Amino acid sequence: MAGRIPREFIDNLIARIDIVDLIDVRVPLKQAGKNYQARCPFHDEKSPSFSVNREKQFYHCFGCGASGNVISFLMDYERQTFVEAVETLAETLGVDIPRESFGGEKHGQEASLPALYQVQEQAAEFYARQLREHSEAARARDYLQGRGLSDDIIRHFQIGYAPPGWRSLPATLPADQLLASGLAINKEAGGFYDRFRDRIMFPIRDRRGRVVGFGGRVMGDETPKYLNSPETPTFKKHREVYGLYELLSTRKKPERIVVVEGYMDVIALFQHGVAYAVATLGTATSADHADLLFRYAPELVFCFDGDNAGRNAAWKALEASLPALRNDRSIRFLMLPEAHDPDSLVREEGNEGFVRRMAEAQQLSDYFFQHLSENLGLDSIEGRSALFQKASPMIGKLPAGVFRDMMQARLAKLTGHGKALTGTNKSNRPTAIIQKAATERAKPSMLRIILSLLIQNPEFFSLINAEARMELERDEKAGKVAGKLFSIFKERPDIRCGGIPEHFRGEAEYGLVLKLSVLEIPLSAADARTEFLATLEKFVAQMKVLLIQQRLEWLNKKAERLGFTGLDQAELEEYRRLMEKK
Ligand code: UTP
Ligand code: MN
Repeated sequence: MAGRIPREFIDNLIARIDIVDLIDVRVPLKQAGKNYQARCPFHDEKSPSFSVNREKQFYHCFGCGASGNVISFLMDYERQTFVEAVETLAETLGVDIPRESFGGEKHGQEASLPALYQVQEQAAEFYARQLREHSEAARARDYLQGRGLSDDIIRHFQIGYAPPGWRSLPATLPADQLLASGLAINKEAGGFYDRFRDRIMFPIRDRRGRVVGFGGRVMGDETPKYLNSPETPTFKKHREVYGLYELLSTRKKPERIVVVEGYMDVIALFQHGVAYAVATLGTATSADHADLLFRYAPELVFCFDGDNAGRNAAWKALEASLPALRNDRSIRFLMLPEAHDPDSLVREEGNEGFVRRMAEAQQLSDYFFQHLSENLGLDSIEGRSALFQKASPMIGKLPAGVFRDMMQARLAKLTGHGKALTGTNKSNRPTAIIQKAATERAKPSMLRIILSLLIQNPEFFSLINAEARMELERDEKAGKVAGKLFSIFKERPDIRCGGIPEHFRGEAEYGLVLKLSVLEIPLSAADARTEFLATLEKFVAQMKVLLIQQRLEWLNKKAERLGFTGLDQAELEEYRRLMEKK
């Protein structure tokens, strides 16, 4: 698999991309003095409080507090992962991403990821063409027509046909990549053959539109009904869903996403105007699925068959999604009538019928308590205690917040047992943090002023002498940030504000660094540079006094314990000197 992206490469990307250009093509900006402004893309507002600064290479919204650099913007606005954001930047500049290989040596055998995407893209085009042109494809076209698929839909999902022979894929496609992508299978006797033969083909795309795998359906009763690509470097079933790219290509911000089990369910729903369904790929819904889908819509509707298997799948989906359920997200469950799947139901009841059923779908909270209470008999202590035992640890998996509190409250009401067993009670913490934040905003500490001015003006680094550096690094809380900043500046004297947070991403200090990057320092001096120098000087002096005090205290304690004769000559000398200084 691909190795780590070198730090230096990321630094260079950030240095070469202009944040104003990057954002402007996505959210048109208007120049206002030194900054560029727009209505904030991260919250609803009438007047623009979103501001982009070219010098700092940083954006910040004074309304909702969103802030960051080019990478954060792509991650938050286009919901890309970190690696995707780096890929986007690299593509913009037209450069390839180098990877550090693990263990030093290159694995010469492995097909590279871009090559795997490419061969699968070409195969998808090949299958689509075969559906139109191959001499045997009439059966496939009839089958699709028989299931009610229009030509538009066939094109939108790029449905294709894999011909019957053992070797139909074009000979121009390189064998090692066909094998690595699972499109071909090695023969024991040597040579290889196509995995998919005489099947209707469904290309599976990731959210960026790259073909990562295929599903292939027989047209008769043969088994398996669906054959899927194996897990490959491009295809991880617990992470991908079918239909997400096709959904996002027609609507960027769906209100909800319906999660179903089958390829044909997604397609039938789409054709009936429910163009926001995706399917898990023959696996149970995973936490990764829920995380992925919540990046695009605030509500998920899990839609399962009304049989036993469907009910089991629904409960599994609930368990997997609990950790992803923040306050602004919701999940509902739509159990279908027996002997129906979404495909057959939407064909029978049409868009209206399906949408009505969705509106009536059960909320996760109701489903949760109903399912757990089944057969327990809540009028007995035994039943209520059993419910508590089962529900409490599950509620504990919810992220802290109003929703979890309310689930706990409902459990307490149902069982008459008030204290939930969900680990440590941190209810005091938020207020403490808020209070702290409020005072901090009122008057930033000297250290904050220094670090903030430094992050916002990296050229100030040259103003800090060795002594001051040492004092800054000594601080218990911010010392780590200071130390790391110094080594960044030493290594990359040309770095700008926007490049700095990247070095902290994923670390505990990341949030602090973002805050410092946008903190507005009220200047009491003529300019930022003078303010910086003055604050630094004051800080170093204060630290020195502090140090003297600490040392004096220590000497005093020792003297109290042993009498002044307990101090040796050097210590007595030091004591006198320190007293003088003080
Ligand atoms: P179903 O058996 O419910 O089929 O499998 P379906 O979706 O209703 O398909 P049609 O309507 O008969 O065409 C649901 C899903 O389980 C996976 C596929 O992802 C399928 O869409 N599956 C099923 C397989 O991977 N292999 C199989 O053999 C069967
Ligand atoms: Mn079906």
